[in-house]
Amino acid sequence: MCGIFGYVGKRNDAGSLVIDGLKNLEYRGYDSWGIACKTDSKVSIEKDIGKISSIKSEDFSSNCSLAIGHTRWATHGGVTPQNAHPHANGTETIAVVHNGILENYQQLRRDLESKGHEFKSETDTEIIPHMIEEYMKETGDFTSAIKKSCEAFEGRFAFLALHTESNTLVAARRGSPLIIGVGEDGYFIASDIPAFMNHSRLVQYLDDGEMVVTDGESILFSSLKTDEEIQKREIEITWSVEEAQKGEYEHFMLKEIMDQKDSIARAVNQNEEQIETLADAIRNAKGTFLVGCGTAAKACMASEYFFSVISQKHVNFAPASEFKLYHHFLRPESLLIVVSQSGETADVLEAMQIAKSKGSKVLAIVNVEGSTIDREADYSLLINAGPERAVASTKALTGHMAVLMLIAYALDGKLKEGRKVLLETASEINDMLNPRYVDFVESVAERIQDQKDLFIIGKSWNYPMALESAIKIQEVSYVHAEGFAGGELKHGPIALIEEGTPCIALMGDDEVKNDIISNAIELKARGGFIIGIAPENNESFDVWIKVPEAGTAQALVNIIPVQALAYFLAVKRGKDPDMPRNLAKSVTVK
Ligand code: M6R
Repeated sequence: MCGIFGYVGKRNDAGSLVIDGLKNLEYRGYDSWGIACKTDSKVSIEKDIGKISSIKSEDFSSNCSLAIGHTRWATHGGVTPQNAHPHANGTETIAVVHNGILENYQQLRRDLESKGHEFKSETDTEIIPHMIEEYMKETGDFTSAIKKSCEAFEGRFAFLALHTESNTLVAARRGSPLIIGVGEDGYFIASDIPAFMNHSRLVQYLDDGEMVVTDGESILFSSLKTDEEIQKREIEITWSVEEAQKGEYEHFMLKEIMDQKDSIARAVNQNEEQIETLADAIRNAKGTFLVGCGTAAKACMASEYFFSVISQKHVNFAPASEFKLYHHFLRPESLLIVVSQSGETADVLEAMQIAKSKGSKVLAIVNVEGSTIDREADYSLLINAGPERAVASTKALTGHMAVLMLIAYALDGKLKEGRKVLLETASEINDMLNPRYVDFVESVAERIQDQKDLFIIGKSWNYPMALESAIKIQEVSYVHAEGFAGGELKHGPIALIEEGTPCIALMGDDEVKNDIISNAIELKARGGFIIGIAPENNESFDVWIKVPEAGTAQALVNIIPVQALAYFLAVKRGKDPDMPRNLAKSVTVK
């Protein structure tokens, strides 16, 4: 979703610093950009549509020590320079960048228009500087006017504001994330850490319903409602700058696929006592629910099978966006497990609120430490995948599945056995991801790159992996891809198969192997071009992508060549896999 970055401090190159920081937020997905720099007593705003990567940061190095910037992912109003942030009031004394959606903006805009305010954009954001200006007439003070404005806003927001008459950077949050970087020469405020991690490795988190005001030397956190001052801990970022960079790879997506050589082992390396405690929580819960979105949802769905097969425990999966009406099942003794890479996904946060309102406990399995979900859950486990920057989630999926599988083993009193299975699988994946293997997957992508449809089938835990395969292929290559449970083919989808249609069959050496082979044969009989991803070759396959035999962890192994196939399909079709159209890394709006 949109990226926010601001700086105030002793440095006088705030403009170029903010441009560079925004470039580090490009992975979040955006369609326009903009910056406001405060110099002397005026604000200069520059904004445009398109990519910020070609903008030279040196062009913004004029004497400025307070600046805010934004990468916009259009929600209200089309992709135009006028709709890009920052937005200002009529006299251009107040500038604002904003993430989230102000649900009552139409009413507020009408009220402001009746008081003579004129608007230049179609956005909800533009009302913020106008509201602040209006309340400043009452309060005479910038920060109090911001607080009053926030009281009037409905919906989720995170914004930064600056004023020509003040050297302070002000941020307010209700819903969308904001993180403060504590630097030697000033303070940074961003929607995500990569914006400032070249300058600061100490962070403070702004929580919902809070505001922060800084002049670059001191910083004051307070409640938006009560004015009460809030003390914050400084937390050190544990991952390195290198981990957050592409290194030798052309794209983050490929780097992150290859990171799975060791990220799965890191996910498995959990504190055993903590895993046992969480297994106990599931054992004692009256109803356990699992929710996530997109790829994280597929990890939840796969773990329904892990809990069934490994620990014979019934858990209930629902996409987080569909959880609303499940509240009838929730009681104080219920447990909600939420799964998220970013820890900021709006639908997941809403599911947590629903569970909390019923008194149920929430267990989070997340990648980003300090994220809202990590902080707001009753228990939280980190998968330690390291920063995932490509929009397409890869290593977070296998990390999430590894942790969920570990808990399933612990529930059956076999935590050590679970660790062993997963660590052996991690080591097999390390061997599998060698250059020859990756080249082979690339050659398969080359063979099917011009096809317009692609189908993927799987059974048991390979069924959610078939759905996940479809997401990966759709989002980066824009090829129409669909995943099915193999057994469902004959109930409809098989009608879509034509001569040469590529069909991927995901399988393991398990009790459902023969069923899925039969499904592959059915597809082949209708002309399907069968790509088998399996430990053993089969005569129904036109192409065999070999994977190690991994028993209960087969899903973790099988999805990796599909991630690579999706990546190469995107590249061969001339698409940028790191920045797919219409998508954002972290979906902080509903
Ligand atoms: O950060 P989260 O794991 O909560 O994100 C959930 C989805 O938005 C995410 O997995 C999305 O589906 C990815 N683009 C898939 O690759």
